[in-house]
Amino acid sequence: MTELLYPVPAQAKQNSHLTPELYEEMYQESINDPDTFWQKQSSILNWAHQPTKIKNTSYDKNNVDIRWFEDGELNVSYNCIDRHLKTQAQQTAIIWEGDDPSKDKHISYQELHDQVCQLANGLKKLGVSKGDRVAIYMPMVAEAAYAMLACARIGAVHSIIFAGFSPNAIADRINNCEAKVLITADEGRRGGKTVPLKSNVDQALTGNRCKTIERTIVLRNTGSDINWHSQDVCWQELIQDCTSICEPEIMQAEDPLFILYTSGSTGVPKGVVHTSGGYLVYAAMTHKYVFDYQPNEIYWCAADVGWITGHSYMVYGPLANGATTLLFEGIPNYPDINRVAQIVDKHQVNILYTAPTVIRSLMAHGTKPIQDTERTSLRQLGSVGEPINPEAWHWYYEVMGNKNCTIVDTWWQTETGGIMMTPLPSVTELKPGAASKPFFGIQPALLNQDGEELSDEAEGNLVIKASWPGQARTIYADHSRFIDTYFSAYENVYFTGDGCRRDQDDYYWITGRVDDVLNVSGHRLGTAEIESCLVAHPAIAEAAVVGFPHDIKGQGIYVFVTPIDGQVTNSELTKQINTWVRQEISPIATPDLIQWTQALPKTRSGKIMRRILRKIAANEHEQLGDISTLAEPSSVQTLIAGRLNKA
Ligand code: PRX
Repeated sequence: MTELLYPVPAQAKQNSHLTPELYEEMYQESINDPDTFWQKQSSILNWAHQPTKIKNTSYDKNNVDIRWFEDGELNVSYNCIDRHLKTQAQQTAIIWEGDDPSKDKHISYQELHDQVCQLANGLKKLGVSKGDRVAIYMPMVAEAAYAMLACARIGAVHSIIFAGFSPNAIADRINNCEAKVLITADEGRRGGKTVPLKSNVDQALTGNRCKTIERTIVLRNTGSDINWHSQDVCWQELIQDCTSICEPEIMQAEDPLFILYTSGSTGVPKGVVHTSGGYLVYAAMTHKYVFDYQPNEIYWCAADVGWITGHSYMVYGPLANGATTLLFEGIPNYPDINRVAQIVDKHQVNILYTAPTVIRSLMAHGTKPIQDTERTSLRQLGSVGEPINPEAWHWYYEVMGNKNCTIVDTWWQTETGGIMMTPLPSVTELKPGAASKPFFGIQPALLNQDGEELSDEAEGNLVIKASWPGQARTIYADHSRFIDTYFSAYENVYFTGDGCRRDQDDYYWITGRVDDVLNVSGHRLGTAEIESCLVAHPAIAEAAVVGFPHDIKGQGIYVFVTPIDGQVTNSELTKQINTWVRQEISPIATPDLIQWTQALPKTRSGKIMRRILRKIAANEHEQLGDISTLAEPSSVQTLIAGRLNKA
């Protein structure tokens, strides 16, 4: 593993918010006196009532209780819009770049205000009020951001469902959070194709499956023919007679802002709950310092609004800071492989934040992804979602960034709300592939299996020792699952589920998940979720899903399945299984490899030995370790002989 150090470039030091000395001073204060530190930092927002109680948190597993700024009062949409109107009303808040390169839009802060208020009034008209949940299933259009901010304006709690999810996944999420209203569009556009959003919604709601949904707001986006039902209301018609004045609802800092579902190692996806005050302070702070955002810069986070990165760094963080944020409807290689670089030039993007999987898929085409582009506007690059391998880092640095930009490799999670470890542009010397150093207030530690803290150079399970404002407060309607998942493996710390190494310079390197969670193209998927979908197929008796190294996706999905007695397996059935998973969960969960087998390796007590399956899937069957505890050790040889990854 390369540990080459890149010094902080001179350009990164100009006008920056931080120097190495200031970072050190602020970091020490954030750890030694969090109350004073975060009280000062809370002024990054405008509060209706300034908080005086700052930190009140307990990681005691009998009473996990996390509160920040608890007597503070604010409105998130006011902070993301209204407070900028005095000086920035005509500044572009959102640049929308269409899937079709000839389509784009600039939305000013004033326009954003008017659109958000109109929709907020429309939601009120439909009976939505403070505390109600609103599900959002939208393509990457500016209206997705309007919908989020309109909910925030009236104190409704939004729950975005990634537009790649299928009807069952939509229904599960709506039912879990008991959403009252669903906001969607007729269709989305991606890579020259259309995505049938309303039709998916119709299937999700069919047969009164989601009883809590009273109304569905449908944006006419592509204008295609769709079925209209009695509960559907057209977005454009709904807001037609709504005014663009809507007083923001004053919320308590700890009132929930949104629920976002994410996969864990067990069970159905969890509804991670983020609150108003702490989340926004943290999203705004990290956006400002990690990207060293300067006024008037064009900032592009190429994430989907359906994931936490889209929430924190496409919408809430940048808008809270009065930034211009770019929202891209399409995909990185459409219509041409140099689309990303073209967008950078077209909109003179200064900061680009994307995922290693995108970088790797571009890198495979050498310098074609930058053909006929200059990218001289770029100052800062960011990476998120999975470990970035040094080759991809170097391509990003040298080819995309013209060797002029620093790279912030940001490690964080849906549950952390914002960036936890990262280099800082004007502070940190870069090591390709390292998440590097903790952000303000973050105290990482590495533990061994017995929960003992490891010092100096070490590798272990990554935990965080004390709370930070952006931390999730609970899992919706299931606080005990919150405690079990994050606070019971080890005492009095937050367990991240990630493995990590600390090197001789105290740099942190994320090594990947230590639980049964996969990271496929930066998408987080639970193996248990895919397995339960597989065993629901009539041809399958048992299923085990593991990850294996994949050049572009980071991890691929390797499925081992046993057929129902007597079932003849063939390639047609394998194809059917693929389609089944796509339909039941999402195309992002499509298996890469499906191996049929008569038996799975199990212990005598009947537990599937995934360790062995992982090795076979990775084509590392020479290092299986001890298999003497298996009920039938001979089954392993059959599995090895039939393995599908021989690379
Ligand atoms: O394993 C880590 C990986 O992504 C997981 C979190 O996934 P999710 O909640 O979907 O959030 C993704 C966007 C923040 C983590 O537990 N991960 C995220 N960023 C990095 C990373 N692994 C290595 N390096 C990163 N920069």
